[in-house]
Amino acid sequence: MTTSYTLSRRAQALTSSAIREILKVTERPEVISFAGGLPSPATFPVERMREVTEKVLREAPESALQYGPTEGFSPLREWIAARLSHGGAVVPASRVLITTGSQQGLDLLGKVLIDEGSKVLVETPSYLGALQAFSLFAPQFASLPSDAQGIVTDGLSPEQLAGARFLYCLPNFQNPTGRRMPLERRKALVALADAAGVPLVEDDPYGELSYGGEALPSLLSMNPDGVIYMGSFSKVLAPGLRLGYVVAPEHVLGKMIQAKQAADLHTPSFSQRIVYEAVQGGFIDRHIPAIRSLYAAQCEHMLAALEREFPKQVSWNRPEGGMFIWVDLPEGVDSGALLAKAIERNVAFVPGAPFYAVNPRKNTLRLSFVTVPGEKIDAGVKVLGELLRAEIAALPAAA
Ligand SMILES: Cc1ncc(COP(=O)(O)O)c(C=O)c1O
Repeated sequence: MTTSYTLSRRAQALTSSAIREILKVTERPEVISFAGGLPSPATFPVERMREVTEKVLREAPESALQYGPTEGFSPLREWIAARLSHGGAVVPASRVLITTGSQQGLDLLGKVLIDEGSKVLVETPSYLGALQAFSLFAPQFASLPSDAQGIVTDGLSPEQLAGARFLYCLPNFQNPTGRRMPLERRKALVALADAAGVPLVEDDPYGELSYGGEALPSLLSMNPDGVIYMGSFSKVLAPGLRLGYVVAPEHVLGKMIQAKQAADLHTPSFSQRIVYEAVQGGFIDRHIPAIRSLYAAQCEHMLAALEREFPKQVSWNRPEGGMFIWVDLPEGVDSGALLAKAIERNVAFVPGAPFYAVNPRKNTLRLSFVTVPGEKIDAGVKVLGELLRAEIAALPAAA
């Protein structure tokens, strides 16, 4: 008899990430890719990693290679807690869970806070990987009106938030738009969520990648009991380490720890010890400025190319940090169709539609500029400019 596999309804509903599909194409060396959200390998601290890996293996081989506690390696939890404690807002290490990348934090959050049909509030647009992670638990997404400064708090009432399991937001250099939420909006959002009794989930992998402006206070520091915070070493050290963290009130964290136990027992002891050693002695604060200045220069290069090559009907933002530029095309231009033509000419980007939880806007796209050398940025943007001119010329209104 032929064995038949009946997939769970959850598995049947799974779809492949639009980005992963595009990344397969971009593996071809001739493709200029603005698609991936990968950090630049030029920023990986290889020497430091070699040095601290040797140290860990020399000084603590048995515990580094052994199972460890689900919560994470205590000294690393304490280091994270201290780094996140600003001014009066002290984060206790007991609120920190080390995760296998912050992506795992999103999955655990979905597991412990979402039931089928639960209301989950998100920005418009939002991080695709979070939408995917939450979708496994079949929530009802509500997408909050947002502009170039994030969620529009003016006109938003606590009643509109009420009843949601949480509001997921990315205040710093958001993926996909690169936008940052100003201080006044942060304060307004925290006050609104508090009045509605709705937890805020602050996903912050890009917070340290400001190109020069002052750091703004985290939502966590404004209301430690009302915010679940997620951070990551992926963009400040290296993503292959798969090291992230969640800060949450202890009763929620306890459930996430139980869910993590079932998922993978714990985050690799070896990675945790390596990262703990790597950040010591002020290394991380010497290392991050080098990432910021590389990304700022790359961003300037791409902005200059867009200014030169893109038709005037197209607009984009000027990010103050992070890894992405968000592009708005005239109504009627479909960035999915544009991508197919771009790939024929060996250029790739990510269409904007998958980043919307509801009502996708097809005339948007995301450009990542951090991994592409300057001359390739120029060549790739030139191709996109030519294709856009042709698309715009073919629009009915322009005929
Ligand atoms: C907004 C956001 N959150 C979470 C992640 C996941 O990061 P990691 O699992 O590498 O920590 C990413 C990755 O690009 C991201 O952009």
